[in-house]
Amino acid sequence: MDRIRIVGGNHLEGRIPISGAKNAALPLMIASLLTDDTLTLENVPHLADVEQLIRILGNHGVDYSVNGRRESQNEGYSRTINFTARNIVDTTAPYELVSKMRASFWVIGPLLARMGEAKVSLPGGCAIGTRPVDLFIDGLQALGADIDVDSGYILSKAKNRLRGNRYVFPKVSVGATHVLMMAATLARGETVLENAAREPEVVNLAECLIAMGAKIDGAGTSTITIEGVDALSGARHRVIPDRIETGTYAMAVAMAGGDVLLEGARADLLQGALDVLAQTGTEIIPVNSGIRVRRNGAGISPVDVTTEPFPGFPTDLQAQFMGLMTMAKGKSRITETIFENRFMHVQELARLGAHITLAGQTAIVEGVSKLKGAPVMATDLRASVSLVIAGLAAEGETVVNRVYHLDRGFERLEEKLSGCGATIERLSS
Ligand code: UD1
Repeated sequence: MDRIRIVGGNHLEGRIPISGAKNAALPLMIASLLTDDTLTLENVPHLADVEQLIRILGNHGVDYSVNGRRESQNEGYSRTINFTARNIVDTTAPYELVSKMRASFWVIGPLLARMGEAKVSLPGGCAIGTRPVDLFIDGLQALGADIDVDSGYILSKAKNRLRGNRYVFPKVSVGATHVLMMAATLARGETVLENAAREPEVVNLAECLIAMGAKIDGAGTSTITIEGVDALSGARHRVIPDRIETGTYAMAVAMAGGDVLLEGARADLLQGALDVLAQTGTEIIPVNSGIRVRRNGAGISPVDVTTEPFPGFPTDLQAQFMGLMTMAKGKSRITETIFENRFMHVQELARLGAHITLAGQTAIVEGVSKLKGAPVMATDLRASVSLVIAGLAAEGETVVNRVYHLDRGFERLEEKLSGCGATIERLSS
């Protein structure tokens, strides 16, 4: 299994190109199931999760082709990919595939809307908590779907098309918003989704669906109105830059020190997190080509944060921010409100010398003046990258094990960081 070796202590100087957002690309790829025409997506990141979803969509009958440079030259770079679901050959998403990537459960929305049926494996728990699917079931039932749960599968049917309805999410969910919005595009009549997720990835999906002929209003606010249409067509659409990758590298610069241009990043996609970073003493300078992040000399000020749905501080940056706070000049409190078990990085950061205590859903971080490199590992994507960031600032050598988590969500991580002067390499085994 590959590992990443880091020798900490270097400042980061230079530029890092920001990739297309994983969490936008996945639902956009799934939207290709809604039409028999070709959906062309630009700026699709080259990540393990994207490759896995291509396999899953292929199982339903989606053909794909990669535009532009030859595949051998594309290794590791964002691509333009055409997806065509001319014939859906299978409306079942089996356990073997869904269990490998939770977001693949989202195929339930388009399959049900277009084919009138879907049999999708329950995704099961994952490292960051139980992650139930009750909102998807409730919401699809509100649109008229018949749903049974049997032998680990959700069997859903809508023989005479889904019907538009008003649905109020009891809790904000990004995935359930994606799925109900996709399903409602082909329903009969009007759907109003209230307390919908406002994340930029929801807006990016809505814009793509609109380009495909859907009638959607209000994406990016908590009320989304969808007027169903009979069919959708193909379209060409661009994946937004990854706000989590942007925030992660911004925190790496804040922690290691230096001056880096995050090329192609959009400040409006993560203003809440950038405001917090500015309070730590990091300079955040939006420029035409992206965001410049600088911290020279000054220490890191402690800041308390609580994770919240967009536009609040994202849970997907919580672990990285905790990494930064381990070296702040004082005490900070980090409260996780989205997932119940998202503190696996705490023990591993402690291996590097961090002082963190847990009180329920709050981590109390007592900043230390230095971290010391150590072998570490993590069990999810964002936790893993927090260890990379901490390793960049720690004295000596840090080896991060179980790198496959990083490959799920960070395109060319080592190359991007070493291009800015970090000593970081992949050890293959
Ligand atoms: C997405 C992101 C993930 C991010 C999360 C929150 C993708 C591929 N993943 O995950 O990186 O951390 O948003 O910003 O985009 N919930 C229920 N019942 C449901 C569905 C969700 O209780 O039926 C709960 C979840 O357990 C969690 C909360 O709602 O506590 C928010 O989860 P949700 O927004 O659905 O996360 P995902 O869409 O899975």
